Amino acid sequence: MRGSLLGRRTAQRFRQVPISAVGSVKNKLLLSCCIVFTLVVLASHAASFLGWKHQTSSLDRFADRRKGYAILINTWKRNDLLKQSISHYTLCPGVDSIHIVWSEPDAPSDSLVKFLNHTVQSNSRHGQQMELKFEINKEDSLNNRFKEIKNLKTDAIFSIDDDVIFPCSSVEFAFSVWQSAPDTMVGFVPRIHWVDQSKGNTERYIYGGWGSVWWMGTYSMVLSKAAFFHRKYSGLYANEMPASIREYVTKNRNCEDIAMSFLVANATGAPPVWVKGQIFEIGSTGISSLGGHSERRSQCINRLVAEYGRMPLVSTSVKAVDSRNIWFW
Ligand SMILES: *[C@@H]1O[C@H](CO)[C@@H](O)[C@H](O)[C@H]1NC(C)=O
Ligand SMILES: *[C@@H]1O[C@H](CO)[C@@H](O)[C@H](O)[C@H]1NC(C)=O
Repeated sequence: MRGSLLGRRTAQRFRQVPISAVGSVKNKLLLSCCIVFTLVVLASHAASFLGWKHQTSSLDRFADRRKGYAILINTWKRNDLLKQSISHYTLCPGVDSIHIVWSEPDAPSDSLVKFLNHTVQSNSRHGQQMELKFEINKEDSLNNRFKEIKNLKTDAIFSIDDDVIFPCSSVEFAFSVWQSAPDTMVGFVPRIHWVDQSKGNTERYIYGGWGSVWWMGTYSMVLSKAAFFHRKYSGLYANEMPASIREYVTKNRNCEDIAMSFLVANATGAPPVWVKGQIFEIGSTGISSLGGHSERRSQCINRLVAEYGRMPLVSTSVKAVDSRNIWFW
């Protein structure tokens, strides 16, 4: 009974809608569908026509080895971390060569060299052998990281510590950002400086760690523990930068990364670029967890300002993200 009543009512309601209106709604719907379909077809054709393929084949992109990058890895008595790091990075498609900055008194052991040799060989692709080289140093100095590397085939250097690992997708993305701005430092670990207001009119600078960057959304350095830079800056650091700065770095066992940030900022007059990337820390605690670290870093900044006669660092809030990984614009 009730069902039929309801049915009749609905039927009546439907009958009240004019036929022409139903027709126009249908037409609009059909038209919209057609437009959407056409747009989708056009877009997919245009994408392939203009070369906007979602995944560029790594084979094509890195056929020219000059378009790749060198990995410069700084290590100190942590062969297990070094093995882990290199096993990972040799899988990244853009890697052209791997340079291990070795400052230990003993030469690398045969077993370590054999292991790394084997890793590099088995992970080399399409008959292109990645190069593996130990940069052996007599002196144990943090400046060793920025010694000029002879016969480097790539302009790009990816400088990395042995205790952090970034997925290849993050590294390759940072590399593409660097390619758009090859004079700039492009990295994953941002730091900030600011003027100490409490000290009256004397210009004293303070170094801010990750907490400050996170709080302010601003940075003025990216640390060389995970950053791309042009190989010319290694030459400038080793040969052109005042020797007093290198002496300060050796003596204090600190500050080489800030010195590099100053050098690049002085050369470009521009800020670095912070790239979003996943970080996996594989080592235990690093130097930054030691007490008094922040004060030593501030001292380093003020020393460098004195050397340069000005503050070259430029602050920015720009962060590069891979737009394929964000859903909302
Ligand atoms: C590592 O590989 C290079 C090149 O293939 C080779 O010349 C060198 O002898 C190897 N070293 C060791 C210790 O296996
Ligand atoms: C800073 O840059 C200027 C201009 O390029 C250059 O002349 C100067 O030597 C640089 N300063 C240092 C300390 O490298």
